[in-house]
Amino acid sequence: MSGSTPHGGILINRYDPKADLTQATKAVELDAFALSDLELIAIGAYSPITGFLDRRDYESVVTRMRLADGTVWSIPITLPVTEAVAGGLQVGEQVRLVHQDAVYGLLTISDIYQPDKAAEAREVYGTEDVNHPGVKKLLERPNVYLGGPIILVKRTDKGEFASHHYDPAETRERFAEKGWKTIVGFQTRNPVHRAHEYIQKSALEIVDGLFLNPLVGETKADDIPADVRMKSYQVLLEKYYPAKRVQLAVFPAAMRYAGPREAIFHAMVRKNYGCTHFIVGRDHAGVGNYYGTYDAQHIFRNFTPEELGITPLFFENSFYCRTCGNMASNKTCPHDAEHHVALSGTKVREMLSRGEAPPPEFSRHEVARVLIEGLQTVSV
Ligand code: ADX
Repeated sequence: MSGSTPHGGILINRYDPKADLTQATKAVELDAFALSDLELIAIGAYSPITGFLDRRDYESVVTRMRLADGTVWSIPITLPVTEAVAGGLQVGEQVRLVHQDAVYGLLTISDIYQPDKAAEAREVYGTEDVNHPGVKKLLERPNVYLGGPIILVKRTDKGEFASHHYDPAETRERFAEKGWKTIVGFQTRNPVHRAHEYIQKSALEIVDGLFLNPLVGETKADDIPADVRMKSYQVLLEKYYPAKRVQLAVFPAAMRYAGPREAIFHAMVRKNYGCTHFIVGRDHAGVGNYYGTYDAQHIFRNFTPEELGITPLFFENSFYCRTCGNMASNKTCPHDAEHHVALSGTKVREMLSRGEAPPPEFSRHEVARVLIEGLQTVSV
């Protein structure tokens, strides 16, 4: 068999462009975040989820990282609406899901409920601090959640990423065509630096293929824009990766910055895309100092390998060691920090914005060039 079994056993497909909209006279407006979730549910990326969570599943996910039936699921997939909108809706009704005047989906409302957002923030993000970008987003969104199964009736415009967009059914087919039996997924919201390359290639030494899957949905304003990042992956792949062993595809989800919880979520989703392994390095999906460096690895201990159904590959903080003359981590390098080339994300971004390339031990020069050009054409 090629690839993994989808989470929950079957790959969900809830896309039906011919679905009957006539019963759904009312419309609910989706923000960009909910629109991306709608599509990801429909194409099976969130299997076994078939809609926005009702209260039972929501509370179960928030408190114990499982759907009500026990399936591992760590991030609540919700549809927030205002009290005014909720007041005009009833359980049992079908409503159109609309974004910027276009109808994208249908929701059969099975639940209308008021979440405890403070509890959601604490449990999912580990903090109620409004400076945390995930918590900020959670609190900015409206206060009532609609739950129920969805149907996607219209695909979103993939814009400039169209040539790198694949549904889980398609990536599974591609992996099978390539003859890959073991595939490692790599989540990223940053440009590919040498440390990323090192852990990807280390993983590739023990599996058949690398699924490089940069997130291109909503991110916080100071993350590097997705189009610039995509160019950086392309120049790197062209020059330094064996084309036969890599599949590049965008992951059109919003970033939550939920650290450990998001690492589990990222792994489950990549399992749905067909991955058998998933890379979790240092401070995966983290932001600021909210999470411990390896919390996103430790959280996997809460689950058995069988219920995860994808093998996490854990990597230590990686760097270039001048004395070793290669990329390494504290597991493989005996030298002190002064021998290592280490730069913070903020420092690198400052350098790039000034048109200055980080050292080649940190970033390949082809990547640095793309980033410098890209950052000069966007307002940062
Ligand atoms: S993330 O928010 O998508 O996790 P990023 O794109 O920086 O951010 O990281 C992608 C993956 O690479 C994550 O698994 C992260 O833990 C890992 N990673 C990033 N930098 C390093 C590093 N220097 N050493 C080890 N792992 C790293």
